[in-house]
Amino acid sequence: MRIAILTSGGDSPGMNAALLGACRAAESRGHVLLGVGYGYQGLLNSDFRQLTSPEVLARFSESGTLLGTGREPRMLSVEGIDAAATAARSGGDALIVVGGKGSFTAAAQLAARGVRVFGIPGTIDGDMHYPTATLGMDSAVNYGVRIIDDLRVTALAMPGRYFLVETLGGDTGHLARATARAAGCELVITQDEPFDAAAFARKMRAALERDRFCIALLAEGMGFATHIGGELERHLGARVRPTIIGHSMRAAPPSAFDRRLGLEMGAHAVKLAVEGTSSCMIGFDLGAGIQSHGFVPPVSPKA
Ligand code: F6P
Repeated sequence: MRIAILTSGGDSPGMNAALLGACRAAESRGHVLLGVGYGYQGLLNSDFRQLTSPEVLARFSESGTLLGTGREPRMLSVEGIDAAATAARSGGDALIVVGGKGSFTAAAQLAARGVRVFGIPGTIDGDMHYPTATLGMDSAVNYGVRIIDDLRVTALAMPGRYFLVETLGGDTGHLARATARAAGCELVITQDEPFDAAAFARKMRAALERDRFCIALLAEGMGFATHIGGELERHLGARVRPTIIGHSMRAAPPSAFDRRLGLEMGAHAVKLAVEGTSSCMIGFDLGAGIQSHGFVPPVSPKA
């Protein structure tokens, strides 16, 4: 079989791991994995080339995507989708799409036209429309946490200051909230809940009185840290120092979790393609989170 794979939308750490997982799975079964350049643009231009696992392995630990990615406006039109479906059918026996919600919207339309498509969720935003971990979010959160750790060093060295850190995250606040939680920041502004600048400023002041500094987070969908920071300054009567980590979060080194996720999802997509499964989206549900369990008697050591 010839299985094509493309990465689409914002790049996310772990995309190269997905390529490696897919490539190894294809090669070990005697199939060919064709990389498509720059997302759906490459599909429309029939830009396919065979990937080999040593080549992909060499880029495995890098963020970004060795195939290149893109946001293809032609995929918003019926003509574009029709043309992409024709290209996908002549280019390969199945297509793997690594990307976020927009990429999957196009993928679903290809599937409706008879292309066998397998979707791997790849976005730092963690905002898929079905329950799944997404490639890159864990790495991006780790990156954000490191930046906040650094800010805390200077915040503690010179107490009494306010900081506002702007993350990416698209049209949801998942990334900002996940970063805040892991970084121990209790104050986060996202579009998912109403924002009242005066009330938020009061919380910031209370945090500063307790901790001697205040680091709050802001999801990009709420506006610029400079702008929201200015609004908060008026209520606080003090300067709010903005840090925009923004797109650099996408360049986070792929975490162990994202590498594993990419490898396993890539391999699984190829398995589904080879087994003749019909089109679907692949997920990895992180499950129930914190739980309580009864005490389990320890296993007694062997005599
Ligand atoms: O892919 C998602 C994302 O990284 C969002 O977090 C962000 O809003 C968007 O991409 C930025 O897109 P671009 O790179 O086109 O500016």
